Amino acid sequence: MVTADKRRSGKGDVEGGDKYSVLLPTYNERENLPLIVWLLVKYFGESGYLYEIIIIDDGSPDGTLEVAKQLEKIYGSDKILLRPRAKKLGLGTAYVHGMQHATGNFVIIMDADLSHHPKFIPEFIRKQKEGNFDVVSGTRYAGNGGVYGWDLKRKVISRGANFITQVLLRPGASDLTGSFRLYRKEVLQKLVERCVSKGYVFQMEMIVRARQLNYSIGEVPISFVDRVYGESKLGGNEIVSFLKGLLTLFATT
Ligand code: GDD
Ligand code: MN
Repeated sequence: MVTADKRRSGKGDVEGGDKYSVLLPTYNERENLPLIVWLLVKYFGESGYLYEIIIIDDGSPDGTLEVAKQLEKIYGSDKILLRPRAKKLGLGTAYVHGMQHATGNFVIIMDADLSHHPKFIPEFIRKQKEGNFDVVSGTRYAGNGGVYGWDLKRKVISRGANFITQVLLRPGASDLTGSFRLYRKEVLQKLVERCVSKGYVFQMEMIVRARQLNYSIGEVPISFVDRVYGESKLGGNEIVSFLKGLLTLFATT
């Protein structure tokens, strides 16, 4: 375990307070990005915490990066950091890439399509402080959490993925495939070093590894609302690679 002293001396630590780096991976999120950034600025502004927003765009053909550049001008390059990549390299590696540029001592990972509402972030932070947790995971499958706007097929895929992972790996967290989470930065780094998966299965592997390494996990119920603009990048390929990743983990852990 990491001691409190080590934490205080960690790079990016801010005297007298914590700093939160929000990672926003984007692929064709031109319509959603201005609103999610505005909401983040609003909720962080109200709470008074130090923060930065790191946008990792993977060469979106819809011009998301140009929109991001405008936002950088509006809110300032200390708040909005652009860390683009040339092409679509997958969600898992987008987080890793973003994390390398994070200067906060905490990292928040969320979707940029408004399915994850920034209003939950103050609750994540409160929860983290309450239990001094290493990880706080948003959960759709406990308390007041839920999913809105998904069709039956998508609900079955998500529930099914959670269910078989629960049975095979018993990770002791209620939402394994969700991606709205807060990590202590050095914990995220350790987890990422151990993770082998690249795509959507990454979320699940992260929580399984966190349990293995005995990190503490707090949960906050969240409502996940299906996107209005643009479309999901989760396709048949991602489902196949999720299953492959799950079986690999089952065989190796
Ligand atoms: N940079 C980058 N590269 N961003 C990506 C990529 C990529 O290859 N693929 C997706 N994204 C971004 C999207 O632009 C969005 O901000 C976020 O990652 C989530 O992608 P969606 O395509 O909207 O995912 P979803 O709504 O189908 O899936 C959600 O639920 C899953 C399971 O419940 C996400 O929260 C997943 O992470 C989650 O596993
Ligand atoms: Mn989405």
